[in-house]
Amino acid sequence: MAKKIVAGNWKMNKNLQEGIELAKELNEALTADKPNCGVIICTPFIHLAKVSEIINHNVINLGAENCADKEVGAFTGEVSAEMVKSTGAEYVILGHSERREYYNETPEILKEKVDIALANGLQVIFCIGESLAQREANEQNAVVKAELEGSVFHLTEEQFKNIVIAYEPIWAIGTGKTATAEQAEEIHAYIRSVVAEKYGKAVADETSILYGGSCKASNAPELFAKPNIDGGLIGGASLKTADFKGIIDAWKK
Ligand code: PGA
Repeated sequence: MAKKIVAGNWKMNKNLQEGIELAKELNEALTADKPNCGVIICTPFIHLAKVSEIINHNVINLGAENCADKEVGAFTGEVSAEMVKSTGAEYVILGHSERREYYNETPEILKEKVDIALANGLQVIFCIGESLAQREANEQNAVVKAELEGSVFHLTEEQFKNIVIAYEPIWAIGTGKTATAEQAEEIHAYIRSVVAEKYGKAVADETSILYGGSCKASNAPELFAKPNIDGGLIGGASLKTADFKGIIDAWKK
């Protein structure tokens, strides 16, 4: 069985003080009422070191939202996977559609980032998902398969075990428009079958496949009840403790 996970993606929200406050609140809430799933918060780079000291890593894991496609050196403004790891973070999100679209991150660049992140001991939350036009043209399966082939299917089986997949239909991100639980389950099952073709059924069954895109406490129980949905990658609803905890608690229903 794949590990159940609820991961937050703060994106470019919260200044340092606000981020510390949110991490403290969440840590207190989840220490008092232990989650039934893995919980990860992915924060802007500048928050990582402080937040890492605040949280109990037995209850909440920490991740970055990105890392550089180079190991080290003269790359002004970039943050390396090794630097991320040195803060105490355990994860990094790669392949988010916002990075692919606004920062021109190609499958080749993402492949480099994945390799460097894994080499530095980070686990990768690798995002895939189709646009509205691709969904309307019924190309979603081909799109997600190509995204996996382009950036993670070169990995060995041992390396691939450090990949969490997040399926995030672009048309559902931040739009309030969620994929129905049936739509999500259908493509999650397909994604698992593609992983099984590549790495075998045992690895596929152990791979966590998260849903992302306007996931909130009200729709999480229905989504998480599906056999191939192992949790969520949460944007907007990860910015308030009550909202995020409401989604985490969906695993208790
Ligand atoms: P959202 O974002 O929950 O705000 O739709 C999800 C994501 O982009 O990871």
